[in-house]
Amino acid sequence: MERTYVMIKPDGVQRNLIGQIVSRFEQKGFKLVAGKLVTLSKETAETHYGEHREKPFFNELVTFITSGPVFAMVWEGEQVVKISRHLIGATNPAEATPGSIRGDYAIQVGMNVIHGSDSTESADREIGIFFSEEELSTYEKNTNVWV
Ligand code: PPS
Repeated sequence: MERTYVMIKPDGVQRNLIGQIVSRFEQKGFKLVAGKLVTLSKETAETHYGEHREKPFFNELVTFITSGPVFAMVWEGEQVVKISRHLIGATNPAEATPGSIRGDYAIQVGMNVIHGSDSTESADREIGIFFSEEELSTYEKNTNVWV
């Protein structure tokens, strides 16, 4: 089953948006397989955003993402990479559709609340940066047992 890496950025954590964002992914039908609050080191941030190293905003991006804890998650489900990108919305909140997370909660491209992997290859790489194999839970959902 496909997996993706999703990260609520420091602005989303500070603004108490973790619960609402997790809820959107749960309600969509995806399965949470890992999650933790973590403050990124400069090295981890530079590895994660390595493809943007030459961009003019790189230093600003690294400073922002290391400024406080992020909520790192792995979600699982059919086409979860592509569908998560739709749930998250366009990178620039000014272009993000209302109803998407960035469309509803963000204004600036720098502080846009959330990150989601842009391909299955990126997802594998990013999951490997943030989580060990032991931290990824494999389990079945069976709501009939609990209600
Ligand atoms: S690009 O140039 O199209 O590849 O970059 P883009 O996909 O638009 O953005 C990549 C990530 O960089 C963040 N970003 C910024 N951060 C700080 N300041 C500025 N000006 C800025 N512009 C882009 C953007 O939010 C993307 O972060 P992620 O976490 O990948 O969504």
